[in-house]
Amino acid sequence: MRAVVASEPGGPEVLSVSDLPDLEPGAGEVVIAVAATAINRADLLQRKGNYPPLPGAPETLGLECSGTIAAVGDGVGDWTVGDEVCALLAGGGYAEQVLVPAGQVMPLPPGIDLVTAAAVPEVACTVWSNVFMIAGLSADDTFLVHGGAGGIGTFAIQLASALGAQVITTAGSAEKLETCTALGADVAINYRESDFVEAVKSATDGRGADVILDNMGASYLGRNVDTLAIEGRLVIIGMQGGTKGELDINMLLRKRGAVIATALRSRPPEEKGAICRSVVEHVWPLIGDGLVKPVVHTSLPLEEAAAAHALMEAGDNVGKILLTTGT
Ligand SMILES: NC(=O)c1ccc[n+]([C@@H]2O[C@H](COP(=O)([O-])OP(=O)(O)OC[C@H]3O[C@@H](n4cnc5c(N)ncnc54)[C@H](OP(=O)(O)O)[C@@H]3O)[C@@H](O)[C@H]2O)c1
Repeated sequence: MRAVVASEPGGPEVLSVSDLPDLEPGAGEVVIAVAATAINRADLLQRKGNYPPLPGAPETLGLECSGTIAAVGDGVGDWTVGDEVCALLAGGGYAEQVLVPAGQVMPLPPGIDLVTAAAVPEVACTVWSNVFMIAGLSADDTFLVHGGAGGIGTFAIQLASALGAQVITTAGSAEKLETCTALGADVAINYRESDFVEAVKSATDGRGADVILDNMGASYLGRNVDTLAIEGRLVIIGMQGGTKGELDINMLLRKRGAVIATALRSRPPEEKGAICRSVVEHVWPLIGDGLVKPVVHTSLPLEEAAAAHALMEAGDNVGKILLTTGT
């Protein structure tokens, strides 16, 4: 099979397509003939050598895919050869075939075509698990998501809005702010021009945000805690603004707030499987009703993995960047 390999840690140019051996499923696994995969920021870190694959995970990049079940291992009852599916992966998606535990495979979201479905597993599982399963966002809450025009942000805005929360977001240009508003954000703040702490307080009569989904980490830690409402939950999922920040415990304590950090990639297969089941139960119906739609910036062939990485690094994407295998 063809797969994207990295010749060494480095820039996008280290990525190229090579031939790798075909895959055979073990017990409890399936092989998916990949139609499409999607780029994630974790892939950029892994390519640079800063985020090695988990023990036992493939060296090949790719945390999600869509495709057709090509083979099933012993003990797999839920899937048969020929089923069209999408899946959350520990790695290996930038290839024509990928091995995945059967519990991490999901049916295509209703009404979504095979290639576009590759845009859904990471954003749906990340947003649902963090914002709803962990932070317990409710319809009465105010939700702040940073980076509203990105892959995670575009999905988070729609999901929180569909479930009735007040949605506030940040983005870096007027055009991206418009996209966020069109997706359902009640308030969109240009993080380059305005102070989001003041903007959130002014949009909530000084109350602040009940749940914050943060991609920045260190550089936003203090301001995020300042933005939290009483008993607010800050969920950090990214480190685009660095890894080491200062936490004002006094402010957090007075607010009875929570700071949580999670990574989907390192969760064990059973936890990933439980998240996938919850996503199919709760998120797929909203996609079926047209309330949540995957936002795809562009699709490129597998051979253009380097260009796809450069595109995400430039930060010009609105929504997800896909790679297609052409099979
Ligand atoms: N922990 C997990 O399990 C997990 C899973 C998936 C993703 N993530 C993380 O989630 C983050 C978003 O991922 P993605 O796939 O959506 O990536 P993406 O599509 O590349 O989006 C990145 C976003 O970061 C925003 N951004 C950059 N500088 C910012 C700033 N100063 N303030 C606010 N926003 C800023 C960008 O906004 P503009 O384009 O408007 O400038 C863009 O929307 C990444 O950090 C990724 O690593 C974590």
